[in-house]
Amino acid sequence: MQSILDSSLALKAAVGDVAEVAGYLWGKGWAERNGGNIVINVTEFVNDDIRQMHAISAPLSTSGYMPHLKGSYFFCKGTNRRMRDLARWPMENGSVIRILDDCEHYEIIADKAVMPTSELPSHLAVHNYLIGKGSTYKASLHTHPTELVAMSHTNKFLEKDVLTKLLWSMIPETKAFCPRGLGIVPYMLPGSVELANATIKTLAENYDVVLWEKHGVFAIGEDVMQAFDMVDTLCKSACIYMDARMMGFEPDGMTVEQMAELSETFHLPK
Ligand code: 13P
Ligand code: ZN
Repeated sequence: MQSILDSSLALKAAVGDVAEVAGYLWGKGWAERNGGNIVINVTEFVNDDIRQMHAISAPLSTSGYMPHLKGSYFFCKGTNRRMRDLARWPMENGSVIRILDDCEHYEIIADKAVMPTSELPSHLAVHNYLIGKGSTYKASLHTHPTELVAMSHTNKFLEKDVLTKLLWSMIPETKAFCPRGLGIVPYMLPGSVELANATIKTLAENYDVVLWEKHGVFAIGEDVMQAFDMVDTLCKSACIYMDARMMGFEPDGMTVEQMAELSETFHLPK
């Protein structure tokens, strides 16, 4: 059977990047069973052949009115599908969807009628928000990084920017590559519209990565590699913190002066 990926080399490359990152998530131990999901906006790779493709599903709800998504196309991980399977067979474990003109429904167009992730409400709401504010970001990624989830199990790390400052101070690269820090979203039911709304509200405070309390992280980026790199960098800092604690001491962290020098030299926000 022909795949939609044969219609567009650029689409094939973008889905290839999703598969590569899915392999990293599994390798990191952040993607037990079907844990985590990735959605990328592939509208820019869609040509006339793809536009003419018929739906292979009934119209399905986007869980909200998404005015900026009219006519957009997304590649989505399938619900209940394993990241490690997405890594090897992306079109068997994910699908391409088209947002309908009413902006409240979508249809699956290829390759198979794989139902998109249960976190689609958050992913679509975030893409709608991103386009609405003129962002060039095309990727959203949700995963379960063990150390960051562990850190969300105590209230002291859930205060605004406490975790950001701690993680930034563990190694200089973290502020350099995740200069907006880590926003906090209080626990909410997975897959819910409430979680989607709270995620947008926190991202709008100018974060690229948010921590879903006792669940995981949700990251956005220009592409899926960039979104992954930010989570990876934050998690590296979390690992350093925990290793120090396991050796029996509270890590000092970089000093205020060292952080200021870093921000100044690399033109990072204060
Ligand atoms: P899906 O299998 O529906 O993508 O759900 C995984 C998950 O992590 C939900 O939060
Ligand atoms: Zn999850």
